[in-house]
Amino acid sequence: MSDGMQTIQWFPGHMTKTRRKIAENLKLIDIVAEIVDARIPQSSRNPDIDALVLNKPRIIILNKSDIADPQKNRIWLDYYKKQGITAILVDCKSGKGVNLFVPTVKSILKDQLERASHKGLNKSVRVMIVGIPNVGKSSFINRLSGGKKAKVEDRPGVTMGNQWFSISKDVELLDTPGILWPKFDDMLVAEKLAFTGAIKDNVLDVEQLAARLLTCLAADYAKNLVKRYKLENSCVVGKSGLEVLEVIAKKRGMLLSGGKVDTERAAIMVLDEFRAAKLGRITLD
Ligand code: G4P
Repeated sequence: MSDGMQTIQWFPGHMTKTRRKIAENLKLIDIVAEIVDARIPQSSRNPDIDALVLNKPRIIILNKSDIADPQKNRIWLDYYKKQGITAILVDCKSGKGVNLFVPTVKSILKDQLERASHKGLNKSVRVMIVGIPNVGKSSFINRLSGGKKAKVEDRPGVTMGNQWFSISKDVELLDTPGILWPKFDDMLVAEKLAFTGAIKDNVLDVEQLAARLLTCLAADYAKNLVKRYKLENSCVVGKSGLEVLEVIAKKRGMLLSGGKVDTERAAIMVLDEFRAAKLGRITLD
Protein backbone atom coordinates (compact mmCIF):
# COMPACT_ATOMS: atom_id res chain seq x y z
CA MET A 1 0.00 0.00 0.00
CA SER A 2 2.96 2.30 -0.08
CA ASP A 3 2.46 3.19 -3.71
CA GLY A 4 -0.84 4.93 -4.34
CA MET A 5 -0.44 4.79 -8.12
CA GLN A 6 -0.38 1.02 -8.05
CA THR A 7 -3.84 1.02 -6.50
CA ILE A 8 -5.28 3.64 -8.82
CA GLN A 9 -4.21 1.66 -11.89
CA TRP A 10 -6.23 -1.31 -10.71
CA PHE A 11 -9.30 0.34 -12.17
CA PRO A 12 -9.69 0.12 -15.90
CA GLY A 13 -9.97 3.34 -17.86
CA HIS A 14 -13.73 3.22 -18.25
CA MET A 15 -14.36 6.50 -16.55
CA THR A 16 -15.33 8.55 -19.58
CA LYS A 17 -17.50 5.78 -20.95
CA THR A 18 -19.27 5.32 -17.62
CA ARG A 19 -19.81 9.03 -17.28
CA ARG A 20 -21.34 9.20 -20.74
CA LYS A 21 -23.52 6.16 -20.18
CA ILE A 22 -24.85 7.43 -16.88
CA ALA A 23 -25.49 10.86 -18.43
CA GLU A 24 -27.46 9.24 -21.31
CA ASN A 25 -29.52 7.13 -18.96
CA LEU A 26 -30.23 10.08 -16.67
CA LYS A 27 -32.52 11.51 -19.35
CA LEU A 28 -34.66 8.42 -19.09
CA ILE A 29 -35.11 8.13 -15.37
CA ASP A 30 -36.85 9.96 -12.53
CA ILE A 31 -34.61 9.05 -9.63
CA VAL A 32 -31.10 7.77 -8.99
CA ALA A 33 -30.68 5.09 -6.34
CA GLU A 34 -27.10 5.25 -5.12
CA ILE A 35 -25.93 2.15 -3.29
CA VAL A 36 -23.12 2.35 -0.77
CA ASP A 37 -21.56 -0.18 1.59
CA ALA A 38 -22.86 0.68 5.08
CA ARG A 39 -19.51 -0.38 6.57
CA ILE A 40 -17.82 2.46 4.64
CA PRO A 41 -20.61 4.80 3.53
CA GLN A 42 -18.21 7.61 2.71
CA SER A 43 -15.36 5.67 1.16
CA SER A 44 -17.64 3.54 -1.01
CA ARG A 45 -19.22 6.48 -2.78
CA ASN A 46 -17.77 8.49 -5.56
CA PRO A 47 -18.42 12.13 -4.69
CA ASP A 48 -18.42 12.96 -8.43
CA ILE A 49 -21.90 11.44 -8.49
CA ASP A 50 -23.18 14.76 -7.15
CA ALA A 51 -22.05 16.56 -10.28
CA LEU A 52 -23.12 13.66 -12.47
CA VAL A 53 -26.73 13.41 -11.32
CA LEU A 54 -27.15 17.17 -10.99
CA ASN A 55 -30.74 17.94 -10.04
CA LYS A 56 -32.13 14.42 -10.30
CA PRO A 57 -33.83 13.25 -7.14
CA ARG A 58 -31.76 10.69 -5.29
CA ILE A 59 -32.09 8.00 -2.67
CA ILE A 60 -29.10 6.51 -0.87
CA ILE A 61 -29.19 2.83 -0.03
CA LEU A 62 -26.94 1.81 2.85
CA ASN A 63 -26.54 -1.84 1.88
CA LYS A 64 -24.86 -4.58 3.92
CA SER A 65 -26.42 -2.97 6.99
CA ASP A 66 -26.52 -6.49 8.51
CA ILE A 67 -22.74 -6.46 8.90
CA ALA A 68 -22.30 -2.75 9.69
CA ASP A 69 -22.32 -1.36 13.24
CA PRO A 70 -26.02 -0.77 14.15
CA GLN A 71 -25.22 2.39 16.09
CA LYS A 72 -23.26 3.83 13.18
CA ASN A 73 -26.09 2.85 10.80
CA ARG A 74 -28.36 5.22 12.70
CA ILE A 75 -25.72 7.95 12.73
CA TRP A 76 -25.33 7.72 8.97
CA LEU A 77 -29.10 7.84 8.38
CA ASP A 78 -29.22 11.03 10.47
CA TYR A 79 -26.24 12.46 8.66
CA TYR A 80 -27.96 12.14 5.28
CA LYS A 81 -31.25 13.39 6.67
CA LYS A 82 -29.56 16.56 7.86
CA GLN A 83 -28.27 17.07 4.33
CA GLY A 84 -31.79 16.70 2.96
CA ILE A 85 -31.04 13.29 1.38
CA THR A 86 -33.25 10.31 2.09
CA ALA A 87 -31.35 7.13 2.91
CA ILE A 88 -32.58 3.66 3.83
CA LEU A 89 -30.88 0.70 5.49
CA VAL A 90 -30.94 -2.48 3.46
CA ASP A 91 -29.60 -5.99 3.83
CA CYS A 92 -29.68 -7.84 0.54
CA LYS A 93 -28.50 -11.06 2.18
CA SER A 94 -31.82 -11.49 4.02
CA GLY A 95 -33.85 -8.95 2.07
CA LYS A 96 -34.45 -6.80 5.15
CA GLY A 97 -35.30 -3.20 4.33
CA VAL A 98 -35.76 -3.85 0.61
CA ASN A 99 -39.53 -3.36 0.99
CA LEU A 100 -38.88 0.26 2.07
CA PHE A 101 -37.51 1.10 -1.34
CA VAL A 102 -40.65 1.59 -3.43
CA PRO A 103 -42.63 3.59 -0.81
CA THR A 104 -39.58 5.76 -0.07
CA VAL A 105 -38.97 6.47 -3.75
CA LYS A 106 -42.62 7.44 -4.16
CA SER A 107 -42.50 9.74 -1.17
CA ILE A 108 -39.37 11.46 -2.53
CA LEU A 109 -41.18 12.00 -5.86
CA LYS A 110 -44.52 12.86 -4.25
CA ASP A 111 -44.89 16.36 -5.78
CA GLN A 112 -43.86 15.20 -9.22
CA LEU A 113 -46.29 12.27 -9.10
CA GLU A 114 -49.12 14.47 -7.88
CA ARG A 115 -48.54 16.96 -10.69
CA ALA A 116 -48.60 14.15 -13.24
CA SER A 117 -51.74 12.72 -11.73
CA HIS A 118 -53.49 16.12 -11.90
CA LYS A 119 -52.73 16.19 -15.59
CA GLY A 120 -54.33 12.77 -15.88
CA LEU A 121 -50.97 11.06 -16.50
CA ASN A 122 -50.38 7.82 -14.71
CA LYS A 123 -46.71 7.58 -15.35
CA SER A 124 -44.39 4.93 -14.00
CA VAL A 125 -41.47 5.96 -11.88
CA ARG A 126 -38.17 4.97 -13.49
CA VAL A 127 -35.11 4.24 -11.41
CA MET A 128 -31.42 3.76 -12.14
CA ILE A 129 -29.14 2.07 -9.64
CA VAL A 130 -25.58 3.37 -9.38
CA GLY A 131 -22.62 2.47 -7.22
CA ILE A 132 -19.00 1.37 -7.16
CA PRO A 133 -18.14 -2.35 -7.56
CA ASN A 134 -18.97 -4.75 -4.72
CA VAL A 135 -21.52 -2.58 -2.88
CA GLY A 136 -24.32 -4.97 -3.82
CA LYS A 137 -25.91 -3.49 -6.94
CA SER A 138 -26.69 -6.87 -8.54
CA SER A 139 -27.92 -8.29 -5.24
CA PHE A 140 -30.26 -5.32 -4.82
CA ILE A 141 -31.60 -5.55 -8.37
CA ASN A 142 -32.21 -9.27 -7.87
CA ARG A 143 -33.99 -8.63 -4.60
CA LEU A 144 -36.19 -5.92 -6.10
CA SER A 145 -37.16 -8.06 -9.04
CA GLY A 146 -37.76 -11.07 -6.81
CA GLY A 147 -35.18 -12.87 -8.92
CA LYS A 148 -37.60 -12.76 -11.82
CA LYS A 149 -36.81 -9.48 -13.51
CA ALA A 150 -40.14 -9.28 -15.33
CA LYS A 151 -39.28 -7.60 -18.57
CA VAL A 152 -41.25 -4.47 -19.42
CA GLU A 153 -40.24 -3.60 -22.96
CA ASP A 154 -37.38 -2.34 -25.04
CA ARG A 155 -37.65 1.39 -25.47
CA PRO A 156 -36.28 3.50 -28.20
CA GLY A 157 -33.48 5.67 -26.94
CA VAL A 158 -32.39 3.31 -24.21
CA THR A 159 -28.69 2.62 -24.34
CA MET A 160 -28.11 -0.59 -26.30
CA GLY A 161 -28.64 -3.61 -24.13
CA ASN A 162 -30.59 -1.81 -21.44
CA GLN A 163 -33.94 -3.15 -20.38
CA TRP A 164 -36.59 -2.04 -17.95
CA PHE A 165 -38.05 -4.25 -15.29
CA SER A 166 -41.18 -3.76 -13.36
CA ILE A 167 -40.59 -3.91 -9.61
CA SER A 168 -44.10 -2.84 -8.59
CA LYS A 169 -47.27 -1.74 -10.33
CA ASP A 170 -45.86 1.67 -11.20
CA VAL A 171 -42.10 1.50 -10.64
CA GLU A 172 -39.61 0.35 -13.24
CA LEU A 173 -35.93 -0.30 -12.90
CA LEU A 174 -33.14 -0.10 -15.43
CA ASP A 175 -31.60 -3.56 -15.31
CA THR A 176 -28.00 -2.46 -15.84
CA PRO A 177 -26.64 -0.47 -12.94
CA GLY A 178 -24.36 2.50 -13.47
CA ILE A 179 -20.98 1.33 -12.28
CA LEU A 180 -19.00 4.14 -10.73
CA TRP A 181 -15.32 4.07 -10.03
CA PRO A 182 -14.21 4.49 -6.47
CA LYS A 183 -12.34 7.65 -5.72
CA PHE A 184 -9.20 7.50 -3.72
CA ASP A 185 -7.55 10.80 -3.32
CA ASP A 186 -6.65 9.61 0.08
CA MET A 187 -4.83 6.39 0.99
CA LEU A 188 -7.20 5.71 3.86
CA VAL A 189 -10.10 5.47 1.41
CA ALA A 190 -8.17 3.02 -0.78
CA GLU A 191 -7.37 0.94 2.28
CA LYS A 192 -10.96 0.82 3.46
CA LEU A 193 -12.06 -0.30 0.00
CA ALA A 194 -9.44 -3.02 0.15
CA PHE A 195 -10.46 -4.13 3.67
CA THR A 196 -14.01 -4.72 2.46
CA GLY A 197 -12.88 -6.53 -0.68
CA ALA A 198 -13.89 -3.80 -3.15
CA ILE A 199 -10.26 -3.77 -4.33
CA LYS A 200 -8.77 -7.18 -4.92
CA ASP A 201 -5.98 -8.44 -2.70
CA ASN A 202 -3.65 -9.40 -5.51
CA VAL A 203 -2.76 -5.77 -6.13
CA LEU A 204 -1.95 -5.15 -2.49
CA ASP A 205 0.45 -6.38 0.13
CA VAL A 206 -1.76 -8.60 2.22
CA GLU A 207 0.25 -8.37 5.44
CA GLN A 208 0.44 -4.59 5.34
CA LEU A 209 -3.24 -4.43 4.57
CA ALA A 210 -4.22 -6.69 7.46
CA ALA A 211 -1.90 -4.76 9.78
CA ARG A 212 -3.57 -1.50 8.75
CA LEU A 213 -7.00 -3.03 9.32
CA LEU A 214 -5.92 -4.23 12.76
CA THR A 215 -4.63 -0.76 13.61
CA CYS A 216 -8.09 0.66 12.80
CA LEU A 217 -9.85 -2.11 14.72
CA ALA A 218 -7.54 -1.83 17.75
CA ALA A 219 -8.51 1.84 17.96
CA ASP A 220 -12.29 1.53 17.53
CA TYR A 221 -13.24 -2.13 17.92
CA ALA A 222 -10.67 -3.59 20.32
CA LYS A 223 -13.42 -5.55 22.08
CA ASN A 224 -14.23 -7.39 18.87
CA LEU A 225 -10.61 -8.48 18.42
CA VAL A 226 -10.29 -9.56 22.04
CA LYS A 227 -13.44 -11.66 21.73
CA ARG A 228 -12.78 -13.25 18.34
CA TYR A 229 -9.14 -14.19 18.96
CA LYS A 230 -9.40 -14.69 22.72
CA LEU A 231 -6.73 -12.10 23.40
CA GLU A 232 -5.80 -10.16 26.49
CA ASN A 233 -6.84 -6.50 26.30
CA SER A 234 -3.21 -5.54 26.73
CA CYS A 235 -2.32 -7.37 23.48
CA VAL A 236 -4.63 -5.06 21.54
CA VAL A 237 -5.03 -1.68 23.21
CA GLY A 238 -2.26 0.74 22.27
CA LYS A 239 -0.57 -1.86 20.03
CA SER A 240 0.35 -1.47 16.38
CA GLY A 241 -1.55 -3.52 13.80
CA LEU A 242 1.56 -5.58 13.09
CA GLU A 243 1.96 -6.44 16.77
CA VAL A 244 -1.69 -7.52 16.94
CA LEU A 245 -1.24 -9.58 13.75
CA GLU A 246 1.71 -11.41 15.31
CA VAL A 247 -0.25 -12.15 18.48
CA ILE A 248 -3.17 -13.50 16.43
CA ALA A 249 -0.83 -15.70 14.36
CA LYS A 250 0.69 -17.09 17.55
CA LYS A 251 -2.67 -17.62 19.18
CA ARG A 252 -3.90 -19.54 16.14
CA GLY A 253 -0.71 -21.61 16.01
CA MET A 254 0.31 -20.22 12.64
CA LEU A 255 4.02 -20.91 12.75
CA LEU A 256 6.70 -21.34 10.14
CA SER A 257 9.63 -23.70 10.49
CA GLY A 258 12.12 -22.21 12.92
CA GLY A 259 9.28 -20.95 15.12
CA LYS A 260 8.68 -17.68 13.26
CA VAL A 261 5.06 -16.64 13.13
CA ASP A 262 3.30 -16.96 9.78
CA THR A 263 1.92 -13.43 9.56
CA GLU A 264 0.98 -13.87 5.90
CA ARG A 265 -1.38 -16.73 6.69
CA ALA A 266 -2.78 -14.81 9.65
CA ALA A 267 -3.26 -11.73 7.44
CA ILE A 268 -5.32 -13.69 4.91
CA MET A 269 -7.42 -15.15 7.73
CA VAL A 270 -8.03 -11.77 9.40
CA LEU A 271 -9.11 -10.15 6.12
CA ASP A 272 -11.40 -13.09 5.28
CA GLU A 273 -12.91 -13.04 8.74
CA PHE A 274 -13.44 -9.28 8.68
CA ARG A 275 -15.16 -9.51 5.27
CA ALA A 276 -17.37 -12.35 6.48
CA ALA A 277 -18.28 -10.25 9.57
CA LYS A 278 -16.84 -12.89 11.92
CA LEU A 279 -15.28 -10.04 13.88
CA GLY A 280 -18.74 -8.60 14.46
CA ARG A 281 -20.64 -5.71 12.95
CA ILE A 282 -18.11 -3.01 12.16
CA THR A 283 -18.26 0.35 10.42
CA LEU A 284 -15.04 2.08 9.47
CA ASP A 285 -16.30 5.49 8.27
P1 G4P B 1 -22.03 -5.36 -7.19
O1 G4P B 1 -23.08 -5.80 -8.17
O2 G4P B 1 -22.27 -3.97 -6.69
O3 G4P B 1 -20.62 -5.53 -7.64
O4 G4P B 1 -22.19 -6.28 -5.87
P2 G4P B 1 -22.82 -7.74 -5.69
O5 G4P B 1 -24.32 -7.67 -5.71
O6 G4P B 1 -22.17 -8.67 -6.64
O7 G4P B 1 -22.37 -8.06 -4.19
C1 G4P B 1 -21.01 -8.13 -3.82
C2 G4P B 1 -20.86 -9.05 -2.64
O8 G4P B 1 -21.54 -8.50 -1.51
C3 G4P B 1 -21.46 -10.44 -2.82
O9 G4P B 1 -20.67 -11.34 -2.06
C4 G4P B 1 -22.82 -10.32 -2.17
O10 G4P B 1 -23.34 -11.56 -1.75
C5 G4P B 1 -22.48 -9.45 -0.99
N1 G4P B 1 -23.65 -8.68 -0.51
C6 G4P B 1 -24.49 -7.92 -1.25
N2 G4P B 1 -25.40 -7.35 -0.46
C7 G4P B 1 -25.15 -7.75 0.80
C8 G4P B 1 -25.76 -7.46 2.08
O11 G4P B 1 -26.71 -6.70 2.22
N3 G4P B 1 -25.19 -8.06 3.16
C9 G4P B 1 -24.10 -8.87 3.08
N4 G4P B 1 -23.64 -9.41 4.20
N5 G4P B 1 -23.51 -9.16 1.90
C10 G4P B 1 -24.03 -8.60 0.78
P3 G4P B 1 -19.62 -12.30 -2.71
O12 G4P B 1 -18.80 -12.85 -1.60
O13 G4P B 1 -18.93 -11.59 -3.83
O14 G4P B 1 -20.46 -13.40 -3.34
P4 G4P B 1 -21.52 -14.41 -2.63
O15 G4P B 1 -21.28 -14.37 -1.14
O16 G4P B 1 -22.88 -13.88 -2.99
O17 G4P B 1 -21.20 -15.69 -3.27
